[in-house]
Amino acid sequence: MGDMNTSKSGGGEPGAPGNLRVPGDMIPDIRVNHAGESGAVSIYRSILRYCRAEEVRDFARRHLDSEEKHLAGFGALLGPRQKSLLVPFWKLAGRAQVALLSLFGPRAIYAAVQAVEDGVVRHFQKQLDRLEGRDDFAPLAELLREYQADERRHRDEAAEKMGPPGPGSALIRLKIRISSACAVAVTRLV
Ligand SMILES: [Fe+2]
Ligand SMILES: [Fe+2]
Repeated sequence: MGDMNTSKSGGGEPGAPGNLRVPGDMIPDIRVNHAGESGAVSIYRSILRYCRAEEVRDFARRHLDSEEKHLAGFGALLGPRQKSLLVPFWKLAGRAQVALLSLFGPRAIYAAVQAVEDGVVRHFQKQLDRLEGRDDFAPLAELLREYQADERRHRDEAAEKMGPPGPGSALIRLKIRISSACAVAVTRLV
C-alpha cells in the first residue's frame, strides 16, 4: 500500500471525516486545507474581536460555525505529524489581517472575506478535479463538495454585502491572492 492514509481518529458513523480514505498524493492538499481552515476560524473570530457593527458580527458568527466544522473535518483526516507546522502562522495572519482591515470599516472586511472564500472555492475545485473518476475516494470528494458549497455561500454573501467593488477592494483582493499563494506553496511542504 503506502499510497493511502486511513485515519482512525474520527470514530462514529461510517461517513464521519475520520473514517474517510485519503490518497497519499493528496495529503499535502489536505494539510493546506486544514491550515487554511485554521486561518478562516481565526479570521471570523477576529472579526468578532475587532468589529463592532452588528451586521458584520452576525455574518461572522454564522460563518464561524461552518469553519469550525471544516477545521475539525480536515483535522480528522490527518495524523498528528501530517498537520502543518505553520498553523500558528495562518492563525496569526488571519488575525493581523482583520485587525488592520477593521480600521477601514465593514466593506474592507467583506472584500477580504470575498477574496479569501473565492480562493478556497477554487482551491477545493482543483482537488475535486483530481479526484474525478477515483471511485475509491468518492466519500472524500463528497466531503469537499459539501465544504465547497459552504465556502461559495460565504463568498456570495460577502460580495452581496460589499456591493459594487471599488479600487480599495481590488487592492485587497490582489494582496490576498499573493499572500495566499505563498502560504499555500509553503504549507504543502511543512
Ligand atoms: Fe472553510
Ligand atoms: Fe468559509
